[in-house]
Amino acid sequence: MWPLRFASICAVIIFAESAYERIGYFWQITDLHFEPHFSINGDPRKGCVRPDNDGGSRSSRKPAGRFGDYSCDAPWALIKSAAETMYSRQGDNVEFVLWTGDALSHSARRSSEIQQLELLQNLTDLLAQTFSSQFIFPALGHDDPLARKELGRMWIRWLPTDSITTFDSGGYYLIERKTHKLQIVVLNTNLMKRNDNDEEARKQWDWLNIVLQKCQNNKETVYLVGHMPPGSDERQRGGNHHAHYAYTDHHNKRYLKLVRKFADIIVGQFFGHLHSDSFRVIYNDNGRPVSWAMIAPSVTPRRTTDGANNPGLRLYKFDKDTGQVLDYTQYYLDLGRLSRHPGVIDWEVEYNFSSYYGLSNISPLSLHTLAEKLTQSSTNEKPSFNKYYKANSVRMYSSSTTSCDNCAHTHYCAITRVDYEEYEQCVKTAASALASSSLGHKNVLYAVVLLFSLVLSLLPMLTN
Ligand SMILES: *[C@@H]1O[C@H](CO)[C@@H](O)[C@H](O)[C@H]1NC(C)=O
Ligand SMILES: *[C@@H]1O[C@H](CO)[C@@H](O)[C@H](O)[C@H]1NC(C)=O
Repeated sequence: MWPLRFASICAVIIFAESAYERIGYFWQITDLHFEPHFSINGDPRKGCVRPDNDGGSRSSRKPAGRFGDYSCDAPWALIKSAAETMYSRQGDNVEFVLWTGDALSHSARRSSEIQQLELLQNLTDLLAQTFSSQFIFPALGHDDPLARKELGRMWIRWLPTDSITTFDSGGYYLIERKTHKLQIVVLNTNLMKRNDNDEEARKQWDWLNIVLQKCQNNKETVYLVGHMPPGSDERQRGGNHHAHYAYTDHHNKRYLKLVRKFADIIVGQFFGHLHSDSFRVIYNDNGRPVSWAMIAPSVTPRRTTDGANNPGLRLYKFDKDTGQVLDYTQYYLDLGRLSRHPGVIDWEVEYNFSSYYGLSNISPLSLHTLAEKLTQSSTNEKPSFNKYYKANSVRMYSSSTTSCDNCAHTHYCAITRVDYEEYEQCVKTAASALASSSLGHKNVLYAVVLLFSLVLSLLPMLTN
């Protein structure tokens, strides 16, 4: 009796211990958009880079805060405080960091390549000092220097030789993890904008196919990591849908096809680029949710055509061996509050995925369930959508302060229809449903008027 009980207690302890040991964390940081010319006296209307020459005219806006402004890309102080926050919140208890591109400010596009590389070296040094014992896996964004050989050399401390080889030639690489099931594939999504028959793009597809096939054969699991996500921008406004496509239709379809084919081994997809907090659900041909992608918000707060956002950092909790993502914590800096109460700089927990949305895990099915809830509205109460919408801009906008008539449906379409045609159909369906319901009312009105005039015209006959 006793030995048996003892043995079962031991088994429970060992099981709990190994489950505990398998839990790990990784950060995702994205879209830093470092503005080297940021000045606290800069005019926010000019990207905070030039001293305001208006002589204090009434119309001139208040100067930006030290940690940035919603009209400007990220100052060094903001990026440094992001790095410090990552270290103070999680220390060395991190397996790796995903750095998903667009490190330089929009204005740095005009700088020389040498200058751009210097700035990237600044950022690389900062991250290397912050994570001295971890590996950082960078993905190329469209606002990063084109000099891949130089970047490869800069990141040689993190990327093994084999990875450097494919990075140099195409900007993509595999991180082979011999002692873990989880393998990490970093894509060069800049190639997804190229022509259908572009040579470099074709090479990346061939390589990716081979890598995924090999992982499947070895019963390994995979993360796909990149800068631009497939599909549409969920915040798109106005009618010009095409302006919001990052991949060409050809590459978007091909990406979807590949994810469906290898859905059983792809345990996570991680992107940035949109500066917003969102996700995507990918379905198989029978409409079953089979894969998901996360889109993490940017460090830069700078307003785009879709609006501004507070700076964000994301910490994922995962099974170190299989890669299964268990949860994530979204950190943010409330820039608005900081400008009202300067001095107290405090990145806070914005939310935890599981407790915020009331879901016990991150899976294709749980994210599908969440997506379906976004458009469910009993009268005007949309608790899930309101939460999602607030997080979408990192608490910059909420559905009670921003007009978002019918935008829940656009978000829903972008989340659940990664294919462009299906997305447009989904958006149109909502529009025509609205139109036909108002048409429906009109029809009833016509019918009543018709009936009334019929009765009126019959009336003389009846009285005769
Ligand atoms: C970036 O590096 C250069 C040297 O390449 C240095 O002069 C400069 O001060 C650094 N900038 C920051 C913000 O650390
Ligand atoms: C969120 O999750 C993290 C890590 O799992 C935990 O440390 C933190 O206490 C949680 N915060 C909230 C507000 O639930």
